[in-house]
Amino acid sequence: MENILNNLNTFLSDLNVFYRKLQNYHWNIKGKDFFVVHPKLEEYYTEINSQIDEIAEHILALGGQPLGTLKDYLNITKIIEAENKKIDSTLVYNELIKDYTKMLQDVKNIKNVADEEEEHKTSAMMDNIIENYTSKIWMLKQNLE
Ligand SMILES: [Fe+2]
Repeated sequence: MENILNNLNTFLSDLNVFYRKLQNYHWNIKGKDFFVVHPKLEEYYTEINSQIDEIAEHILALGGQPLGTLKDYLNITKIIEAENKKIDSTLVYNELIKDYTKMLQDVKNIKNVADEEEEHKTSAMMDNIIENYTSKIWMLKQNLE
């Protein structure tokens, strides 16, 4: 169980930093497709925000303690924060493909560990997120072609 809880807290850290990154991009996106990308980024961070709550409360349900400070998140995360400057959509899409791919790998790993320990709810939750991120990565790639 310790292993699952640590992995879930790492994922929670990634989600929190990714949330901030998505909203930073939402603010700083520029270009002719602004009217498409600006609301799309809001849709993405709103979804990430509900995953943050879901994962934190699941950690509590398993008897763990969810990390709740930005300091912890930044110490742990592998997500690289966005800069405070204007950005165009191609760079944003490429960055999001990288981040969703990184997180997908971690989520698959959490599922494998959960399956080994017969922690079925964690495993089932990861299925939804795997489905979600896999389709995000596909759509983001389609969009770049
Ligand atoms: Fe906004």
